[in-house]
Formats: sequence, C-alpha cells, structure tokens
Amino acid sequence: MKNLPILTILATLFLGMFVDIQAQATYQPMKVEEKILKSSNIAVPTIQCMMCARRIEDKLASLAGIKEIEVDLEAKVALMRYDDTVVNLRNIEQAIASIGYHANNVKRDPEAYASLPQCCKEPKDRDTDLRHSDSRDVREHWQERDKWQNVPAIFEAMAIQSGSVVADIGAGRGYLTVRLAEAVGENGKVLAVDIDTSAVEFLRTYLNEQEIGNVQAILGKQDDPLLPQETLDAVVIVNSYHEMTAYQNMLNKIKASLRPGGHLVISEPISDRRLQASRRKQVSRHEIALQYVKAEVEHAGFEIVQEQGAFVKHDHADHQQTFWLLVAKRPIEG
Ligand SMILES: C[S@@+](CC[C@H](N)C(=O)[O-])C[C@H]1O[C@@H](n2cnc3c(N)ncnc32)[C@H](O)[C@@H]1O
Repeated sequence: MKNLPILTILATLFLGMFVDIQAQATYQPMKVEEKILKSSNIAVPTIQCMMCARRIEDKLASLAGIKEIEVDLEAKVALMRYDDTVVNLRNIEQAIASIGYHANNVKRDPEAYASLPQCCKEPKDRDTDLRHSDSRDVREHWQERDKWQNVPAIFEAMAIQSGSVVADIGAGRGYLTVRLAEAVGENGKVLAVDIDTSAVEFLRTYLNEQEIGNVQAILGKQDDPLLPQETLDAVVIVNSYHEMTAYQNMLNKIKASLRPGGHLVISEPISDRRLQASRRKQVSRHEIALQYVKAEVEHAGFEIVQEQGAFVKHDHADHQQTFWLLVAKRPIEG
C-alpha cells in the first residue's frame, strides 16, 4: 500500500504514452487527393414531367466527371457538381440537348425531341387528336390499374351511395370519374374537374362515346375547381393534389362546395426514400407525403376522420411507390 502513489504515477505515464501512440496512428494525414468540384445550374425550360427529369439524370450520370446531379422539375433546372478537369459545362449542355431538351442556350436535337413520349413534349406539340383507338388504349390501361388501385376502398371512404353527388378533382382522362359514374348510378352525379384542356376534351369525347350521362366535365382554374356551393356529398382527389400549386385556396373552395358533414378523400403517392424530404422536393418528383397534406387539410378547417400511411403499393419499372389515404369531413358547424 506504501507503493500505491508511485504505481499510480507509473500507470498514468504508461497510459499517456499509449494514448499518444494511438493518436498518432489515428490522425495520420489523409493521402487521398481531394478534387474541388464545380457546381452549375442549367436551365431546362422544356421539361414536363418526372420522366423528363429521370431521363436527364440518367444521361448525365453516364458522363465521366459528373459527381452529383438532380433535376428540379418545378424550377426546371438541372443542378450538378462535376470535375471540370474531366467534363465541362458545354459538354453537359450538349448531352442534355442530344436527348431532346433545350439546355441554357444550346438548342435540343429535333429528332430526339420528336421521339419523346407525348407527356414529355411541350403542350403545343402534343397529339391531341382524340382517335377511337385512344379510348381503347385508355381502357386497357385502366383495367391494369384496377388490379392495384383498390377503388372500392376509396369509394367506401367517400361513403358513396346510389344517388350521391360527388366531384373528382384533377380527374385527368377520367379513370376514377368513369367508375364513380357507375357507383352513383343514374340518380347521382359526378363533377369531373381538371385544368388541362386536352384531358377535359378527352373525357367529354369518351363520355359521349360511352353514352355516360351523369358526368359533367369542368375546366377548372389553378386555384378554383368552379364547383357549386354546399352541394356535394364527397370530393375525391387521387394522384393530383401534389400538382395543385394553390392548394390552400383549392381546399377552401372544396370545403365550401361540400354539404356539412360531406367527405374529402385524398390519396397520393410517396416513395419510401423521400418520406422525410421537403415538400418542394417531393412535389418536384410528382409525389407528396401524408404529413404535409394532413396539416394543410386541418388548416383549411376539415376534421380528420381516418388516415392510412400505406393504402396501396404500386410497382414502377425501377421503383415502388406507396399511396396513402386521408379521409376528412367538413364539420357540421363551420
Ligand atoms: C397525374 S394526373 C391524375 C389524374 C387522375 N386523378 C388519375 O388518377 O388518373 C393529375 C391531374 O391533375 C390535374 N391538375 C393539376 N392541378 C390541378 C388543379 N388545380 N385543379 C384541377 N386539376 C388539376 C392535372 O391537369 C392532371 O390531369
């Protein structure tokens, strides 16, 4: 016990040496050469949809020297970091132009642009010729969609009955509208709203062809679905809310169009990997998380009735999306 202080001093010195040797081993200077990457934004004003964004990202990812690339669909800008000793801005602009998109001042390749699918072309260049074969194509696509979309559960959430008066907002070509028309029957009515003239025209032609008489197709405004006041039993929005830039105005107008106690049902896609991303980033990928929409719906004065984070799953060629479902109602008072 007499030697305890001496032993303690020796142990401390020994440990100190050891820690010093470890520190030297850990903090050796890194030999990896760090290159300074250049950042650039390229304006891609003619991109239309998520497919355009992916096409540009895939093309640039195949170029040597590109380290990070992201296309912002809303701002119509490609943002990237690259090693400018390997690839320069002009090469990148030309690569984008070669697949059919203007890139800053470099004009797109006309042949590549002509071969893009309809949804990737500027609206003025789209084929709006509503041929009969289009109706057949659309029906085949809808039958495929029936396998995963779980329409009966959506209608149950809307509390649809024979004779109900409902609206499908962001109706597109009418997948849900046509099914709603059958569910509400000839005593009911469906108001199908969209802001895309060609979608509304397609739907009107389809309704005529199929002799569906209980649907009114409405060309709405970006911030107003142009619906009658205090009339509707239910409103549904599927895969369209994320596109509504004036969503708070839209929700206020939708609430005013519902009778007290009427239902609002929203179902939108979100990829697992972007669940925590900002609203802006999700919307630029044509999706939106339940948490944002729920807060916005509550803010507009709706009562939340039900929420399902994983309503249905949909497999794309290269990724899977989950559609969530939110059911809200206009309060009886207010
Ligand atoms: C991806 S499509 C979905 C169509 C349809 N709901 C479906 O599931 O097949 C989105 C639609 O929302 C429409 N849209 C976007 N903003 C809108 C708005 N403020 N009011 C009405 N429709 C809108 C677009 O024109 C487009 O037809």
